[in-house]
Amino acid sequence: MNKDLNGKIALVVGVGDDQGYGWPIAKELYERGATILLACWVPIIKIFTTSWDQGKFEESRVLSDGTLFEIEKVYPIDAVYDHPSQVPDDVLNNKRYQAHPGFTISEVARQIEEDYGRLDMVVHCLANGPEVKNPLLETSREGYLAAISSSSYSFVSFVQHFGPIMNPGGAFLTLTYLASERVIPGYGGGMSSAKAALESDTRMLAYEAGKKYGIRVNAISAGALASRAARAIGFIDRMINYSKGNGPLEKDLEATEIGKAAAFLLSPDASAVTGTILYVDNGIHAMGCSLDSPAFWSTVQN
Ligand SMILES: NC(=O)c1ccc[n+]([C@@H]2O[C@H](COP(=O)([O-])OP(=O)(O)OC[C@H]3O[C@@H](n4cnc5c(N)ncnc54)[C@H](O)[C@@H]3O)[C@@H](O)[C@H]2O)c1
Repeated sequence: MNKDLNGKIALVVGVGDDQGYGWPIAKELYERGATILLACWVPIIKIFTTSWDQGKFEESRVLSDGTLFEIEKVYPIDAVYDHPSQVPDDVLNNKRYQAHPGFTISEVARQIEEDYGRLDMVVHCLANGPEVKNPLLETSREGYLAAISSSSYSFVSFVQHFGPIMNPGGAFLTLTYLASERVIPGYGGGMSSAKAALESDTRMLAYEAGKKYGIRVNAISAGALASRAARAIGFIDRMINYSKGNGPLEKDLEATEIGKAAAFLLSPDASAVTGTILYVDNGIHAMGCSLDSPAFWSTVQN
């Protein structure tokens, strides 16, 4: 195994179990030698750490050499808050939040600086749209802004707060989805808009953080995966089948394939790559028609 990330420290935000994209990204970075810090959303941090302690992820933790994936430390975070002064009373008084103080982005950055000094890689692997099941036409202002706040602005805030503690040559990565640029029916609640903002911000942040800190900012536009968040939207199995039936590569998309692409973008191998959106989706983004459409085949001769 290539250990090119030996001695590097990676923060991965948005791992809640071993089913989403955060897990294979963190695991691949670990395989390549990085020290892994996680930041977990406060409402699920206890479930995650308890499941870990109880051995529920044991099978998924096995690495290519048979040893186990290890996490150095887990921080609580809520990526919709940048500073303590923004946290409303009902959240401050919530028992789960009281049990995990210091969860705003600026506080997590300060804590990591105290614990480790500097970071080399930050992965933003989170999204939340409370009205994602609503068509955009039926999305409230609150729902739309909430989707943007947790799914897009959080990345801007990450670069603002973690950028100053990154080593030169360090890299940020976020996860986006094709619904930013093409219509994916059902991806509602302003989530399509949030992903469009996230992709635009990736370019702008790459420019500004490149100039200011000498660090890189990229995104992966990932294909469909039946993660916990995707299952909550409700049509993920349809999207997985559609991609397999209509994409250039007629195979399952493995979460580990996103992990490997992420490790490349975060590693020194990608030292000249910044401001880019890399599609890791078996090529479905490139298609302009549906291969399984009877209407298509009824009018095409060859
Ligand atoms: N699953 C897919 O098909 C797919 C496709 C393309 C892109 N993505 C993107 O991948 C990323 C990870 O999603 P996933 O599908 O792996 O699901 P997931 O459920 O594994 O990850 C989403 C994570 O976001 C965290 N989160 C939500 N709100 C948060 C907040 N306020 N603060 C901190 N953390 C918060 C959740 O705790 C969860 O761990 C998301 O950006 C998603 O849009 C997913």
